Amino acid sequence: MSEVRGTAAVIEQFNHAFVHHLPDELDELVGEECVLEGIQPAPDGDRHEGRQACLAFWRSLAADRGTRFAPEEVVVAGEHATIRWRYHFGDGPADSVRGVNLMRVRDGRIVEAFGYGKTAGEVPLATPDAAVDAGWDGRSYHVDSGAGIDGLTLRRHRVAAPGPGQVLVAVRAAALSYRDLMVLRGDYVLPVKPDVVPVADGAGEVVAVGAGVRLVRIGDRVAATVFPHWQDGPFEVGQLAQLGGSLDGMLTELALLDERALVPVPAHLSFAEAATLPCAAVAAWNALTGDGGAGLRPGETVVTLGTGGVSLFALQLAKALGARVIATTSGPEKARRLVELGADEVVDYRADPDWPSVVRELTGGRGADRVVDVVGDLAQSLAAVKACGQVAFVGLLSGRTPALDPGRLFASGATVRALAVGSRAQFAAMNRVIEEHRIRPVVDRVVPFDRAPEAFRHYASGAAFGKVVIETAQPVRRV
Ligand SMILES: NC(=O)c1ccc[n+]([C@@H]2O[C@H](COP(=O)([O-])OP(=O)(O)OC[C@H]3O[C@@H](n4cnc5c(N)ncnc54)[C@H](OP(=O)(O)O)[C@@H]3O)[C@@H](O)[C@H]2O)c1
Repeated sequence: MSEVRGTAAVIEQFNHAFVHHLPDELDELVGEECVLEGIQPAPDGDRHEGRQACLAFWRSLAADRGTRFAPEEVVVAGEHATIRWRYHFGDGPADSVRGVNLMRVRDGRIVEAFGYGKTAGEVPLATPDAAVDAGWDGRSYHVDSGAGIDGLTLRRHRVAAPGPGQVLVAVRAAALSYRDLMVLRGDYVLPVKPDVVPVADGAGEVVAVGAGVRLVRIGDRVAATVFPHWQDGPFEVGQLAQLGGSLDGMLTELALLDERALVPVPAHLSFAEAATLPCAAVAAWNALTGDGGAGLRPGETVVTLGTGGVSLFALQLAKALGARVIATTSGPEKARRLVELGADEVVDYRADPDWPSVVRELTGGRGADRVVDVVGDLAQSLAAVKACGQVAFVGLLSGRTPALDPGRLFASGATVRALAVGSRAQFAAMNRVIEEHRIRPVVDRVVPFDRAPEAFRHYASGAAFGKVVIETAQPVRRV
């Protein structure tokens, strides 16, 4: 639980907003307006009594109205206030609505409020008393490694209230990466747990926090890092656990995550845009800046390969850092879009398979300072990079591993650096550049949560230019 620093005015407005901005379902059910008066202010600094005062009030209200309201949690933390509740309108376990209201409070006034309610439907609900201690419920997709897109199943389940250091995130969007296809195909390089909630990338809103959480607050807009244990510094074997692989991922309505797995998302991005960042953008950022030296410097030449998620971010970030970008792609229409995004030169690798020679010509025979290689044909990258340049080895899209002559590597003097996404610190540093340069991720399309398999099929078809995003079906309304 966060600190409670509510004042009488805050609580009063909080309840006023709750009464006057009930979701439609509740408006229909309530029938008469209930007036919430007499709630005790939460004493400054006394979190337990403040919360108890709120709960006691809601319980007395419930008693007055025939045990119909079952508040589960009231938290006022700094600028943020939240209440989650059940409203029982009949005797059966399914005759109830469950919801949450979130508020942002500044100088004693509610400046923003939103809330939603859900009829319970098939969810077996506890009795009102038990509901006070119950967790949350939400839907998640699940899959076994190798089960393919048809193996995706959607299930509703309980999510425990966050424990110490944990945060409950209402996921608003998840984005697909190549690794997610590999998990479904069964050829992903890292371990995948059975019945995993797939997809590493997602962004959402903090709706509840556990004891001792200090890094985020209720209402924060956050994205999850792919490797939750990797905070900073070089990657280590003990940090291999990752979302949508050995850990449950983000294709869910509610994700329970460690607070250290979260970063705030740039304010100018929508949730759909922010969801695209954790894997592809952070890998691109690492490829450009994570070499242990000065990283990319203005005026350097960077080669990006193709128009996948990593490469488009590498293009956008490299341009923001002042580089010249030579991009390769497979056709004229994609080439046109690359130029729109800022590419200085584009090489069609289908028309000109010897693209490294073109890169050499374009750089006066010198070669590029850096190649961001998502394809894995390192001999090509070494042919394109300057003497003692940098090849960031990001992926193996080619599906084959051509033999690499060690003599060629030696002669190039180049550094070939294989990398795995990036740390939380790298994610945060990248976000500062994205925010400063108002970079907007390229989103190909946004598919509703209920149609997630369609999003996988579209992405797997190779037809997407930019990220394919799945938007969760949270009926959150701003009021
Ligand atoms: N190491 C890491 O941390 C990390 C992180 C993210 C991704 N990856 C890896 O990086 C690779 C790219 O990931 P992504 O998410 O950006 O993939 P993606 O979005 O699926 O990229 C697909 C695009 O790559 C291009 N492409 C495909 N095959 C190609 C080939 N043989 N030669 C040249 N271009 C080709 C195509 O663009 P054009 O038609 O324009 O050529 C295609 O549209 C994958 O292997 C992935 O596993 C690694």
